[in-house]
Amino acid sequence: MGTDLKADRAAPGPATRVLLIDDDEDDRFLTEERLADVPGRPYTLDWTPHYGEGLEAICTGTHDVYLLDFHLGARTGIELLREARARGRSAPVILFTGQAHSRTDLEALDAGADDYLEKAGLTASLLDRAIRFAVAQSRAAAELERKVQERTEELARVNAALREADKRKDEFLALLAHELRNPLTPITNALEILRLANDTGDTVRRQRERMERQVAQLKRLVEDLLDVSRITTGKLRLTIETLTVQDIMESVLDMSRSLFEKAGLELIVDVPTAPVKLDGDRVRLTQVFGNILNNASKFTEPGGRVWLTVKPVGGRVTVSVRDTGVGISATVLPQLFGLFTQVDRTLNRSQSGLGIGLALVRKLVEMHGGTVSAHSEGPGTGATFTVYLPVTRVA
Ligand SMILES: Nc1ncnc2c1ncn2[C@@H]1O[C@H](COP(=O)(O)OP(=O)(O)OP(=O)(O)O)[C@@H](O)[C@H]1O
Ligand SMILES: [Mg+2]
Repeated sequence: MGTDLKADRAAPGPATRVLLIDDDEDDRFLTEERLADVPGRPYTLDWTPHYGEGLEAICTGTHDVYLLDFHLGARTGIELLREARARGRSAPVILFTGQAHSRTDLEALDAGADDYLEKAGLTASLLDRAIRFAVAQSRAAAELERKVQERTEELARVNAALREADKRKDEFLALLAHELRNPLTPITNALEILRLANDTGDTVRRQRERMERQVAQLKRLVEDLLDVSRITTGKLRLTIETLTVQDIMESVLDMSRSLFEKAGLELIVDVPTAPVKLDGDRVRLTQVFGNILNNASKFTEPGGRVWLTVKPVGGRVTVSVRDTGVGISATVLPQLFGLFTQVDRTLNRSQSGLGIGLALVRKLVEMHGGTVSAHSEGPGTGATFTVYLPVTRVA
């Protein structure tokens, strides 16, 4: 490589190392002179006339800044820049152009030059300013890059921690549900024995019945929790058989009718008499419509009405449940089918549940190849839940 312009280092701090890549020795003298004229002489200059040497230097980062001539023998500084950029160079480069030529200038910037300078009329202060600016810009870019890198790593760490916590929460839920279920079976059995013993006394009977109700509620919650962990761990399984929608509605209504009576609601059922066949899991489909009807009864004031309507349409059957209840605002509608979504957590806790019902409904309906949607005109206007299920094709 060429001469080192070991200027006396009056300037504070280390000198900025400049490499000139230029096959014209006159340019080298010109640059040497201009740099020497910069007050404080803050630069050292090296020189190479060779394309290959220059490229290597830029790519390995031997200097703080590179001055690159447009003409390099048979090749151009632009080509060199493109090659260096393809190899991921990051050091600042300033391109020397022969004369004002906007196309070359644009090409230079496009190829990744930080700046370009016209050789004619080059003064010490122009050169100084261009170098300082390019170096500062490249430092700022490097600093930014470092910060982005740092934040990205930080985010990745937080993400990993969250995923781990989420996994442990799922495992904990599964464990909790199993542990809670274990004592329920012996308690239920003991209550059954008490009932069969038919042991007189009104007080005893009332208390026993109370315990039975509470245990039933506890069982429902635990079963829901178990279903949640089956959903999150992908272990939910269906037992498919050919059934009719009428079958399912019958068992749903068996379970739900008393609910509506107790809630003081009128239930209006419209199910066609001609059997509509479908392939599905009897228990799970009953659970789907049971959950939707349960919600309708929970979120409708006494004196209200609920319509259960079944309609076969083409290759599908739609089951809709409409109520005159509290309604749902447009903002929460899209989240309704997510796990643990509840609009009003201040509801009477004894009947408000865990916010699992609709998440289960969606999962189960989708596993049956169907869809479910919710509709409401807003608070106070009631709500409609509609389930679409594919029916069995008759051969
Ligand atoms: N028919 C309805 N009218 C108004 N809001 C409803 C209706 N059905 C559901 N919602 C709203 O959607 C929320 C989620 O329902 P979801 O069935 O998932 O949970 P939940 O009924 O609160 O508890 P869980 O079903 O686990 O016992 C409810 O808390 C309620 O805010
Ligand atoms: Mg519910």
